[in-house]
Amino acid sequence: MDYLKIKSSDTLSGTIKISGAKNASLPLIAMTILAKNKVVIKNLPHVADINTLLKLLSNLGAECQFLDDRVIVDTATINETKATYDIVKTMRASILVLGPILARFGHCEVSLPGGCAIGQRPIDLHLKALEQMGAKIEIRSGYIEASAPNGLKGCEIIFDKITVTGTANIIMAAALAEGETIITNAAREPEVVQLCEVLNESGIQIEGIGTAILKISGTNKQLLDINEFSVIPDRIEAGTYLCAGAITRSQLTLTDVQPKHLGSVLAKLEEMGSSFTLTNNTITIHPSQEIKPVKIVTQEYPAFPTDMQAQFMALATQANGVSIIEERLFENRFMHVSELQRMGADISLNGHTATVNGKTKLSGTDVMATDLRASSALVLAALVAGDETNVHRIYHLDRGYDALEKKLKAVGADVERLKE
Ligand code: UD1
Repeated sequence: MDYLKIKSSDTLSGTIKISGAKNASLPLIAMTILAKNKVVIKNLPHVADINTLLKLLSNLGAECQFLDDRVIVDTATINETKATYDIVKTMRASILVLGPILARFGHCEVSLPGGCAIGQRPIDLHLKALEQMGAKIEIRSGYIEASAPNGLKGCEIIFDKITVTGTANIIMAAALAEGETIITNAAREPEVVQLCEVLNESGIQIEGIGTAILKISGTNKQLLDINEFSVIPDRIEAGTYLCAGAITRSQLTLTDVQPKHLGSVLAKLEEMGSSFTLTNNTITIHPSQEIKPVKIVTQEYPAFPTDMQAQFMALATQANGVSIIEERLFENRFMHVSELQRMGADISLNGHTATVNGKTKLSGTDVMATDLRASSALVLAALVAGDETNVHRIYHLDRGYDALEKKLKAVGADVERLKE
């Protein structure tokens, strides 16, 4: 197993190229199941989750050629409709194949994903919506068994809660369904918007893209012709490197980024004392005079993302004053707190709210990554902690950060990947 050895850095400087978004790539790869042609996807990040989903598709019989940052997926050869436990247990987002496989083949089995470090993460809303579209769903021996021998039918779906992968799953199912599907309380994340846009360019009529009400006209099982496209930049990776700039009081320029997807993150960093120069596709963060405390509530897009909560907590340990961070989406997404405390952070937890008393002097030690974003918070803390920090179990980081240590090294951080 690999770990990262990180020594505290003075200031960082230079340029970091942002990779394609993991959370956009996953539904877009699943979407290839709806295609009759070979689909070319460009600007994919090199992260473990992408390999996992491509392996899942290969296991189903698809042919996937992944070269540099582009993949060619041919789903015409799919001859299997079961996503097995060994893959699904390593990545919950595997559930994204349920909607498209069911829509195309009329049946699908997906292993139930099981527990998750950051909370329960049920998939009841995905299943309820598919049932409304005419699917018969049974849970047997740890598997979701879904069938729709007569095809899926468009209908009106009102999500009780906003769900990102739930919305993506139903959009894909609706694309091949008969008639119109109306999704109310749809997720508006840029990753969902890109899925809609690519489907739209492939001939699926979708009204309300980027809003909470989507109207999707299905093709009644006619497969799609999907043109080559490029994945949008990863706003969470970008936000993480902005926090690296803020915590080390450095000037960093991010390229290949879409500032418009980072509104709430930039606003909070500004409140904390950072300033920026923006172009259409670059963000330069300038060193702040002082890191100020902040109040954060995680919510669905366009509000502050839960996927940036841990990184801002690391930053808040270096703010002069008391920061309050409320997590509204996942009940257990505070696993990084105890590791940050071990580095010297003064954080108290009360239910879904963390109170961070800054500024504390952090000191390096051995810490354990517990989930993807919690891991990057530990890396950020390590950049300013005295001595040396060893971040263990970085397979969590590798799930979602493309070449993290290379990108940090290139801007002057002292980071090394070693074997346990
Ligand atoms: C996606 C992102 C993840 C991000 C999360 C919230 C991907 C691959 N992952 O996860 O990085 O942290 O959005 O922005 O895009 N819920 C239910 N029932 C359901 C589905 C969800 O109760 O059937 C609840 C969840 O427990 C959670 C909330 O709804 O409290 C939002 O979850 P959801 O948006 O579905 O998260 P994911 O799509 O799994």
